Amino acid sequence: MGSITPTPQYTLHKLDHSDPAYASVIFPSIINVILAANHTPYDPLIQLFIPTSPLSPNSRQAALNSATQRFLHNHHTNPVSTWYFVAENPTSSPSRVVGCCEWEDHDRNPFEKGVPKLAAEWWPEGEAREFCERFLEQVYTPRASWMTRPHRALNWMAVHPSHRRCGIASMLMTAGLGDPIKDDKEAWMEASPMGKPLYEKFGFKALLKIDFDMTKTDPSNVWRKMQHEMTPGPIYLMWRPKRGAWDIKPWAMVPVGPSALENTVSMIEQHIRMEKPESSI
Ligand SMILES: CC(C)(COP(=O)(O)OP(=O)(O)OC[C@H]1O[C@@H](n2cnc3c(N)ncnc32)[C@H](O)[C@@H]1OP(=O)(O)O)[C@@H](O)C(=O)NCCC(=O)NCCS
Repeated sequence: MGSITPTPQYTLHKLDHSDPAYASVIFPSIINVILAANHTPYDPLIQLFIPTSPLSPNSRQAALNSATQRFLHNHHTNPVSTWYFVAENPTSSPSRVVGCCEWEDHDRNPFEKGVPKLAAEWWPEGEAREFCERFLEQVYTPRASWMTRPHRALNWMAVHPSHRRCGIASMLMTAGLGDPIKDDKEAWMEASPMGKPLYEKFGFKALLKIDFDMTKTDPSNVWRKMQHEMTPGPIYLMWRPKRGAWDIKPWAMVPVGPSALENTVSMIEQHIRMEKPESSI
C-alpha cells in the first residue's frame, strides 16, 4: 500500500498574552504572513504600512522587526483589538502561522470626534510621511461617516500564498463574526479586490469603492516616486447588517448629522464613488 500524504490541518488561535511566545515568536510570524500575503500578488498598499524598499533580505528583516513593534504597540493600546491566527499542524516545532487577521469589536462610536488625525510616524518627516497620511485620511473618512454604531471591523486579513483556498480565511472570518444567530452587531471592512469574493461569501456587500487620489500640485520628486510606486489600487468598503439580515437597506443607514455631511462632501471631493447598487439589495 502506498503512503498517504496527510491533508494539512489547521488550527485557529486567539492571540493570548499569557503565552510567553506571543510577542517574541507568534507576533513576528503574523507580520511575516502579512508581508508574504501582500507580496503575492504584490499590493503597493503594503509598502505604505511596512516599507521594505530597497528590496534586500536585510531591509525585509528590519522592516519586519519595526512593524512587529509598531503593530504590537497598536494592539496593546487598542482595547477593542483581538488578533486571530491560524497555525499549520503538527505543532511540534514552533507552530507555523499561515493566516491572520485583527478584529475590532466596538460597543460605541469610535469616531465621536470625527476623522482622527493619524500620524504615519514610521515614515521620515516630510513628503513621504505626508503621502502616507493622505492615504490614511482617505481610508478613515468613510470609516468616520459609516462606522458610528456598535460594530465589528476587520483589519489585516492575510493568508500565506502556499495555503490559499484551504478555508483559512473562512476560519478567521467565523472567529470574528461569531455565532450568526446571536450576532448582534453590524460588521465592516475595507476589501481588496482579492478579498471581496471571500467577504461576499460571508454576506457582505460593497457600499463604496474608494479610488485613492494621490495627486498634488507641484509634487516633489519624492512624492512623484511614491505616487508611481505606492498608489494603492481601489478598495471596497463592505458592510454586513446584524445577523447578515439584508432586510435593512444600506441607504437607510446613511450617516446623519453635520460631521457626516462634511465627511460625505469630502469623500466626494476625494473621488470616492458609490458602488452600483446590486439588484438583490
Ligand atoms: C483573500 C485571502 C485572505 C483569502 O484567503 P483563503 O484562505 O484562500 O480563503 P478561503 O479558502 O477561506 O476562501 C473562502 C472563499 O472565499 C472566496 N475566495 C477566496 N479567495 C478567492 C480568490 N482568489 N478568488 C475568488 N474567490 C476567492 C471563495 O468563495 C472561497 O470559497 P471556495 O474556496 O470554496 O470557492 C487570501 O487570498 C489573501 O491573503 N490574499 C492577499 C491579501 C488580501 O488581499 N487580503 C484581503 C485584504 S482585505
